[in-house]
Amino acid sequence: MDPQALQQEALAAIASASSLGELDEARVTYLGRKSAVKLALREVRDRESGMALNAVREAVEQAVQERQTVLERAELDRSIAEDRVDVTLPGTAHPRGHLHLVTQVRREVEDIFVGMGYEVVDGREVETTRYLFDALNMGPAHVTRSPLHTLYVSEDTVLRTETSPAQIHTMEAKPPPIFMVSLGRTYRRDTADATHSPYFHQVEGLVVDRGITLADLKGTLLQLLRALFGEDRRARFTTDFFPFTEPSMQAAVSCFVCDGAGCPMCKHSGWIEIGGSGMVDPNVLRWVGYDPEEVSGFAFGWGLERIAILRHELPDIRDLWSGDLRFLRQF
Ligand code: DAH
Repeated sequence: MDPQALQQEALAAIASASSLGELDEARVTYLGRKSAVKLALREVRDRESGMALNAVREAVEQAVQERQTVLERAELDRSIAEDRVDVTLPGTAHPRGHLHLVTQVRREVEDIFVGMGYEVVDGREVETTRYLFDALNMGPAHVTRSPLHTLYVSEDTVLRTETSPAQIHTMEAKPPPIFMVSLGRTYRRDTADATHSPYFHQVEGLVVDRGITLADLKGTLLQLLRALFGEDRRARFTTDFFPFTEPSMQAAVSCFVCDGAGCPMCKHSGWIEIGGSGMVDPNVLRWVGYDPEEVSGFAFGWGLERIAILRHELPDIRDLWSGDLRFLRQF
């Protein structure tokens, strides 16, 4: 074996290695345990050939070392160049959504009542007939008990048709005074059309304390109507019936389009009906263990979709829940 020729061959291979992988292959070939140099070193008997072979080994090792430094530097330069992020380039725009119109109304109503010191409580969308009917003073023959009106999960489990059971849960949990609103989804076995949806949302309100009167109800709901429909609005209350209030009333707001003069919006009556309300029936107070001789209260339940529909003059309630962004983005 000619050490000089071997050295040249090794140095040439190392110089031509264009990647760290190739360099490692050359290193194994020329310096590995089975390389010619290492095998020859093992056989060495005289000082001279030993020195010559060691010189070859050192030269090759140094060449590998140097080539490795060069290749690593090149690799680093390449990755710096390739991975460079130009922070001045425009980024990828992420589409930004917004709250659903009914959620906006919901939060607005919550804010109005929080501003008046009320607490916002959660109700249950799945209720028992006890809370949806019995506690709310509905007799055994009340029409809403029919499976044609109410969606039954089982014989005594139902999807709530109104948020009013939240009144009962709230009163059962603590003694008066109660100043609460509860907002959420309700279900009725209605076929969807322009003015009906089998699911919709309500805001329920309940106040119970000593000496609460109809004047408190009227003042509070006038405040709500003005916050929702404009500071100049007037309120009108007409008699109605709900099993859980006595007396019961329908609240109307003076038309915000014509201010009461009469227009298509208010069907030329000057008034727009908003929802039910009334003084809490003594039977309801007794059910939760309150004494109707000691405390009294008022309650109301209004539709959130109805508020949105009126304000934006929406033609069809189904648009709200169609999921069509072309519609929803407008609000
Ligand atoms: N729960 C009634 C409905 O869905 C609305 C209502 C009326 C709620 C009078 C009340 C109330 O709390 O006092 O039609």
